[in-house]
Amino acid sequence: MNLDNARLLVVGAGLMGAGIAQVAAQAGHAVALFDTRDGAADAAKAKLAATLDGLVAKGKLTPEAVAATLASITPVAALQPADLVIEAIVEHLDVKRALFAELEALLPDDAVIATNTSSISVTALARGMKKPERLVGMHFFNPVPLMKLVEVVSGLGTAPEVAQAVFDLAGRWGKTAVHARSTPGFIVNRIARPYYAEALMLLQERAAAPELIDACLRAAGFRMGPCELMDLIGHDTNFAVTNSVFAANFFDRRFTPSLVQQELVDAGFLGRKSGRGFYRYPEGAPALPAVDLVRPTAAQLVVHGQGEVAERFAAALPEAVRERDSSWVGLSVDGHQLCLTDGRRAAELAHGAAVFDLPLGATGDLAYAGDAATAAWLGVLGLTPRAVADVPGLVVARTLAMLINEAADAVQQGVCDPAGADAAMKLGVNYPAGPFEWLGRWDRRAVVALLDRLDQHHRGERYRVSPYLR
Ligand code: NAI
Repeated sequence: MNLDNARLLVVGAGLMGAGIAQVAAQAGHAVALFDTRDGAADAAKAKLAATLDGLVAKGKLTPEAVAATLASITPVAALQPADLVIEAIVEHLDVKRALFAELEALLPDDAVIATNTSSISVTALARGMKKPERLVGMHFFNPVPLMKLVEVVSGLGTAPEVAQAVFDLAGRWGKTAVHARSTPGFIVNRIARPYYAEALMLLQERAAAPELIDACLRAAGFRMGPCELMDLIGHDTNFAVTNSVFAANFFDRRFTPSLVQQELVDAGFLGRKSGRGFYRYPEGAPALPAVDLVRPTAAQLVVHGQGEVAERFAAALPEAVRERDSSWVGLSVDGHQLCLTDGRRAAELAHGAAVFDLPLGATGDLAYAGDAATAAWLGVLGLTPRAVADVPGLVVARTLAMLINEAADAVQQGVCDPAGADAAMKLGVNYPAGPFEWLGRWDRRAVVALLDRLDQHHRGERYRVSPYLR
């Protein structure tokens, strides 16, 4: 099956439908655009014309290219036959099913229907269709023209050649497609849950302030910290997605939503859009206090263990002795441990010890727990030590371990393959690396040990280690 020259019908001319119509037209397809709301399709085209004219003014597009794109998009007043229909209407099972029934009555037998649903099971949407094999998920990300990822979602009845044809087409449109099996949250919305959940757990444990959690994850390479990101997405939306993934997994406690977020929603503190979430807007997050980084002195320094972090200490402190065969990674300062988190808390180490978070970046804020004088040595690595409560896995290590764990479960359950998980997280939510790339850089046994310690500490289902990882 080949959709290269497909005539398209895009149903729903809202935020997503308009973007999908644009991308398809720019790739050379004739696109009919339909919406039940009077004038919506015309308005979407007019808005697109204004946007594209702006790009001409900036020299990014030629007037000829814009004219060709706009000429390819035809607002239509009724559903009409096409080779490929992309549905981007309201997120409602029954309304979408009714649309598919109408479409099947007028489409040629070999036409494909793609749904842009972000949360409804593709398997369930296909129920009742005459040809369920022709329905496939084509999950774009917002804003469609800029976001590279398309999750191609197969339901139980989707024909493999239909999924492959849509996959190939997305590639021709300049997107990176990944195959996903229809399971709650597909790839991105599922694997991303712990990014929010771990921040909310840290807040619930009163381990650190939101601005500190955000700063640490930004230093690890994330574009936005989880708290500012939830404020941007809107707590109502983010909470609803978490709840739907929770319910769709038969209330697996691993996905339990957070009372901290429930409170924000109850209060109407929905984030940026309501002027207040974790932070107040337009001000945003308060700045962290400045830290005076005076280089400490010590009589005896020993660098313990091997790997990236040990090498960083050794390079910064050439006078230090090496103990490569140590069971832990870090520095000992006159006998006091400064230990890279392995899930143990500082209180479980010897008196005067500190544990520090996984340093992924060359600079920036890094969480530690324990003795401040010992932790001050993190400054020699160019990092700014930030005190948090003595919780297992601190901030970054625990978040990454949980993202890896969720990705591992998704792979084990055949939702996607490791390369698909990595591509999805980098392109769908702009993560600085994919979960399996982090795993390659870290150490599988260390991730499992850290998760096991979190599990022992919390005694719930949340930190259950994926069998794939173990
Ligand atoms: P939107 O509200 O901006 O647009 C939906 C459009 O569909 C409206 O113009 C509405 O008039 C029209 N519509 C409703 N029922 C219709 C029907 N029966 N026939 C024809 N048109 C109909 O919504 P948005 O954000 O574009 O979302 C559309 C779909 O894309 C939903 O399934 C949503 O879950 C999904 N999606 C949304 C993303 C987002 O960030 N907004 C991201 C990825 C997927």
